[in-house]
Amino acid sequence: TAIAVLLGGPGAEREVSLVSGRAVAEALRNGGFTNVTEVEVHDTAPEIPAGTELAYNIIHGTFGEDGGVQSYLEERGIPYTGAGSRVSRMCFDKLATKEAMIAAGVATPAYEVLVPAQDGFVPKMQAPCVVKPTCEGSSVGVHILKAGDDVEAAVRESAQHGGTVLIEEYIQGKELTVGILDGRVLPVIHICPRSGFYDLSNKYPWMNLGGGTDYICPADLPDDVTARVQAEALAAYKALGVEVYARVDVLLRETDNQPFVLEINTIPGMTGSSLLPKAAQAVGISYEELCATIADLSLK
Ligand code: DAL
Ligand code: MG
Repeated sequence: TAIAVLLGGPGAEREVSLVSGRAVAEALRNGGFTNVTEVEVHDTAPEIPAGTELAYNIIHGTFGEDGGVQSYLEERGIPYTGAGSRVSRMCFDKLATKEAMIAAGVATPAYEVLVPAQDGFVPKMQAPCVVKPTCEGSSVGVHILKAGDDVEAAVRESAQHGGTVLIEEYIQGKELTVGILDGRVLPVIHICPRSGFYDLSNKYPWMNLGGGTDYICPADLPDDVTARVQAEALAAYKALGVEVYARVDVLLRETDNQPFVLEINTIPGMTGSSLLPKAAQAVGISYEELCATIADLSLK
């Protein structure tokens, strides 16, 4: 199969995608795919090599994860990995995701939306809260505010990343993530940043921003809580109509172990420190097998 691994992209997560994409291309080659080309994407009109039988899309965020490249490939009749264009668009929009989850009865933190051009920068919700752009990834533009912090300043900064801003109720508890591969729910990962929250510096140690994170996989939770978290993640995945694979981010409230789904990542990180590969590894699926399985499922 002639595979074009799409990596890079025009968005804020470009560097992450370059690292993810190179690792995936190498894994595919090591896994026996002989015709793998890396296609570095810079804009929204990439040249896909003639004869490409599968576009293996590893562009996180803008254009890659928001339905843009998916529509582009559909117009050209090129099969691609992962969720379809409509589902991708919805999952990259945290507001659309929340609305779909709420309609399906999936728990998600209470929220408020601000479109600064019409609503200004002052939300009704007060700290503690979380401020984030509706359409970004890798914690770009995310602010976690303690009581007394300046919410307006956070909204102003967050609005730099695309305009619409989501303000969410702060949930005190554990940060978890749940990989799903072809409808199979992988072990829950507990994310423990060594300091602060799981921001860019803690996510990607290779960026040398001074951070680091410990991961507990499978998460050390009572069986019934694990089951509840996995069920909620799968319900979100199904509510949005995701296909092939994704990684669902969940907060587990400390007081009552209620899981709250934050979002669904349809092009989850595939770097050496990324989470989906760790979860797969925990059930004996190597990185190479994971990459090959995603290709096989997408060609079906
Ligand atoms: N947005 C990053 C790549 C992730 O979810 O892993
Ligand atoms: Mg994300």
